[in-house]
Amino acid sequence: MDKVLGTLNGMSYTVGDTLLELSYLIAALLFVVGLKLLSHPETARRGNLWAAGGMGLAMITTLLLHKNNSGQGIPLSNVWIVLAAIGVGAAIGWMVARKVKMTAMPQLVSLYNATGGGASMLVALLEYPAAVAGDIQSILVTVLGLIIGAVAFSGSLVAFGKLDGRVGDITKPFMTYLNLVLLIATLGMGVFIIVSPTPPAEMLWAIYTLTALALVYGVMFVMPIGGADMPVVISLLNSFTGIAAAMAGFIYNNDAMILGGILVGAAGMILTLLMCKAMNRSLINVIIGAFGGGGVAMDREHGNIKEITLSDAAVLLSYSQKVVVIPGYGLAVAQAQHIAHELDNLLESKGVEVKYAIHPVAGRMPGHMNVLLAEADVPYEKLVEMDDINPDMPNVDVAIVVGANDVVNPAAYDDPSSPIYGMPIIDAHLAKNIIIMKRGMGKGYAGIENFLFFNDKTRMLFGDAKSSIQKLVTEIKSM
Ligand code: TAP
Repeated sequence: MDKVLGTLNGMSYTVGDTLLELSYLIAALLFVVGLKLLSHPETARRGNLWAAGGMGLAMITTLLLHKNNSGQGIPLSNVWIVLAAIGVGAAIGWMVARKVKMTAMPQLVSLYNATGGGASMLVALLEYPAAVAGDIQSILVTVLGLIIGAVAFSGSLVAFGKLDGRVGDITKPFMTYLNLVLLIATLGMGVFIIVSPTPPAEMLWAIYTLTALALVYGVMFVMPIGGADMPVVISLLNSFTGIAAAMAGFIYNNDAMILGGILVGAAGMILTLLMCKAMNRSLINVIIGAFGGGGVAMDREHGNIKEITLSDAAVLLSYSQKVVVIPGYGLAVAQAQHIAHELDNLLESKGVEVKYAIHPVAGRMPGHMNVLLAEADVPYEKLVEMDDINPDMPNVDVAIVVGANDVVNPAAYDDPSSPIYGMPIIDAHLAKNIIIMKRGMGKGYAGIENFLFFNDKTRMLFGDAKSSIQKLVTEIKSM
């Protein structure tokens, strides 16, 4: 392994160095293939394994073959510490991932984002003295890694609290200005550290102040964002975590970390922009607009709620030609995806055409509905994106809204005072009949009234979505 193969830029390289770089290249290829497979529900599980394989390979070869600038490998005593840390982390991750409920998955993703950001922040803090001894690029990536990692860490913790219902939205008009001041102070302190010629030991106060500023900015930046904008923020924080990891990779000059981080950062940023497009919002607007946080909904006449009996629902569905199921967060809570698929099979056996209308932010994480329905083996062709199904909604005989609320709320079109005004929705209100399955009159994530429930064409089927659909299936079978 130590056999010298040649020299590059005045540095000799050995068989071990070559194998290490080769393993990073293979790891990068595995990440790319993994990402590609992750883009489809049917192959996503495999994609995860490929990417994890790449990460495992990079970790093993780094431990075995990495050398510092003086040509020394990782001391055995440190290898044990690293292995113990990996063991503890892997055991916690494994247990948490096994125990977590599908509905709490978004919170878990936020926590993972926080750990990624926090780790990059710690790397930058620890390596700051060494970076200052190097060139300007080393200080630049260290400061950037610190800022982005700290914002991703504290911001993701607040996002976790919000998704878990522990933290509310705090939207005060002055917060936009306060956040602007905090952002300028954070960036200003970063620039000060980068350009300052003072020795590292005397600059420690500055690096700690920068850390504190970035952490506070992360909290304040996510705090006012709520309601319909949370999906955008979560994917933005995910992207920050990737970029921070890439910066940590630059600090250690580790190609696998740089590539892995850039891939996560780029994928997260693309997803963020797609989410913005789907929500009809600009990224700047999301960050400073705090849409969905406040807003007082228009005061309107409620009208009457009409319920539907199981037998009426069964007859209406069985004699329809076109039925569209609109799933939302309640489908995930009730775990009603399997029984929903049984209902659609049953209806199709009676000649009814059944499709699922997928809103980009239905549920609590990107692709939430796609994942749930794929788990229940609903054929992918039956899932129709919002933009494709909306033009056909006036021809739909029955729209069944299963545990969805905000994503079918017409206030998005006709109530300028509503916090979700301007958000695209699935046009359930245009269908000829609307059946809404939910437990009661509970509000959705944005915490606002939904006048679709009072629409003349709407009839409510109250109860847990899984048990309601189960009873409906039994009723249809007995017809
Ligand atoms: P929501 O608007 O959150 O509404 C879910 C509805 O499901 C509730 O009104 C609730 O009413 C009902 N429900 C809960 N448990 C149920 C059960 N066991 N059976 C039947 N119904 C049940 O969901 P949505 O329409 O999917 O909209 C998603 C919202 O979350 C949007 O505002 C979105 O911006 C936000 N958000 C999305 C994401 C991502 S990335 N998707 C991330 C964060 C936030 P009852 O209590 O009356 O049953």
